[in-house]
Amino acid sequence: MKAAVFISGRGSNLQALIDRCHADPSVPATIGLVLSNRPQAAGLKRAQAAGIPTVVIDHRGFPDRESFDAALDAAVRRAGCDFICLAGFMRILTEDFVRRWRDRMINIHPSLLPAFTGLNCHARAIEAGVRFSGCTVHFCRPELDTGPIVAQAAVPVLPDDDEDSLAARILEAEHEIYPMAVRLIAQGRVRVVKERVVVTDGVFPVEDLVSPVP
Ligand code: GRF
Repeated sequence: MKAAVFISGRGSNLQALIDRCHADPSVPATIGLVLSNRPQAAGLKRAQAAGIPTVVIDHRGFPDRESFDAALDAAVRRAGCDFICLAGFMRILTEDFVRRWRDRMINIHPSLLPAFTGLNCHARAIEAGVRFSGCTVHFCRPELDTGPIVAQAAVPVLPDDDEDSLAARILEAEHEIYPMAVRLIAQGRVRVVKERVVVTDGVFPVEDLVSPVP
């Protein structure tokens, strides 16, 4: 599997994918392209340090979402990638693009989906008083932060948490489950059946999870 990773900023999940998929010869997945819509995204430097090709496609240079997404699609194909990992990519993709990459595009979201889709999910989790939040890797469907769930990890929400402390605790779990999900998919062990993910040929390597939710 040759993945394109889409980012907009820091790129810590990208770094986890570089370290634990791309640079690990036992994982049959490489990163063939890192694409950012923001020229200043710090993650671009992480990709360059790992010798991975990068491209900036600035959404501000396009008249509409369709033409922007067409440029994304062309860049991914030009790089010879057959899979897309969204990793903090802060643009909403068109239905057409999402359909085109159906079951070949995953995203990581910092909540236990289907709870708290969209932005500010940590603040909303604290506000709701949930005892656990976490993160989810899922295949993408046209509606934001929806689609068959590949992996989740739960983390506690502590009484003194603010958005930042909760986000930091969840981010650690993200760095565990995103590479794990990519590894399972690259190994051909993941199937989407009736809009649910089935993992075949063995068991989840749960020892890799921080706090697994089966
Ligand atoms: C992560 O919390 C991810 O779940 C969300 O955006 C953030 C990106 O962080 N979609 P990073 O750029 O990977 O550090």
